[in-house]
Amino acid sequence: MYQAKAYAVASATSPFASSSIARREPTENDVQLEILFCGICHSDLHQARNEWSGMMPTVYPCVPGHEIVGRVTKVGSAVTKFKAGDLGAVGCMVDSDRTCPECKAGLEQFCANLTLTYNFPDKHTGGVTYGGYSDSIVVDQHFVLRVPENLDLAGTAPLLCAGITTYSPMRHWGVTKGKKVGVVGLGGLGHMAVKFAHALGAHTVVFTTSPSKIEDAKRLGADEVVLWRDANEMAKHAGSFDFILDAVAAEHDINAYINMLARDGNITLVGAPPNPLAVGVFGLLFRRRSFSGSLIGGIAETQEMLDFCSKHNITSDVEVIPIQKVNEAYERLVRSDVKYRFSIDMASLKAE
Ligand SMILES: NC(=O)c1ccc[n+]([C@@H]2O[C@H](COP(=O)([O-])OP(=O)(O)OC[C@H]3O[C@@H](n4cnc5c(N)ncnc54)[C@H](OP(=O)(O)O)[C@@H]3O)[C@@H](O)[C@H]2O)c1
Ligand SMILES: [Zn+2]
Ligand SMILES: [Zn+2]
Repeated sequence: MYQAKAYAVASATSPFASSSIARREPTENDVQLEILFCGICHSDLHQARNEWSGMMPTVYPCVPGHEIVGRVTKVGSAVTKFKAGDLGAVGCMVDSDRTCPECKAGLEQFCANLTLTYNFPDKHTGGVTYGGYSDSIVVDQHFVLRVPENLDLAGTAPLLCAGITTYSPMRHWGVTKGKKVGVVGLGGLGHMAVKFAHALGAHTVVFTTSPSKIEDAKRLGADEVVLWRDANEMAKHAGSFDFILDAVAAEHDINAYINMLARDGNITLVGAPPNPLAVGVFGLLFRRRSFSGSLIGGIAETQEMLDFCSKHNITSDVEVIPIQKVNEAYERLVRSDVKYRFSIDMASLKAE
């Protein structure tokens, strides 16, 4: 074991503070990364503040961060995928059993023996896993992704969660040219969804609560932008969408969106508000609409997404911050005031 520098919260109401955590020395299949950038996902905030206490209570101290890009510093003797000096990336998962049907299907995110990157029992240390708000991390090579050389690293980090979480359901539900796609909520996930829907050739409509984001949505690739509260504008889209991705981090009325789906249309929720949402069943019965969820994506698909981004020159629009600004960044995230992802420059942790 060795000590790594990190930023941690000590309770649901504490601010982040500099601390030190124990990491394992790389074992034979492990890759050790010096973390260069880590994105701030709204899930980090949900968990740092124990907002998902019903589903996955937070164990303190908690070090979030699952949008990690780094430089390989050490590899175990059996590692073939990476060597020291390579770039590598880590998303929301750091381990699974690799033997169950889900793992064999490349859907590690649904493995019953999955280990998430933070706030999850750590088989090696006996404590919980610690995420990317840290200067280094040690991860099995299977869960380390190759980073395309042509992409900006600060903007690549958010692809590891916001990117794959929006790419995967779009691929699953067949978003292509000729389809009409809605994106609800223009935050970290939402802005990636717009970039992917546009790159896949779909007619893309953004629904936002923030008038200040209308022009940005168009720049990101939206064909149309609708302010949520504008009932007239909403009504124009009734019964017309093939697919809607809902990436809102808070409770809201989803029935308005269900009713915008065409026959056999699907709305997928990736946003994870802690409390149940009310679903009007009649909206689903008519036109055989469906309502589903989606969780990140498997390792092979995450690599596919990174390669798609490399080909289409897609990264996240980031505001790069030093780790010392993380508390302020969280307050802005609550106010939907980020354009469109915070990416922490981890070199700033060296000063602590
Ligand atoms: N399923 C998964 O695998 C997965 C993966 C990652 C994250 N998530 C979840 O997805 C959600 C979005 O994450 P994110 O990182 O994209 O968050 P984010 O950057 O904070 O974006 C959320 C967006 O939702 C919209 N919104 C509307 N009403 C809101 C309200 N009352 N409070 C907050 N936001 C509101 C805002 O967009 P407008 O300003 O455009 O209205 C906001 O920018 C979170 O719940 C997160 O935990 C799920
Ligand atoms: Zn995330
Ligand atoms: Zn498995």
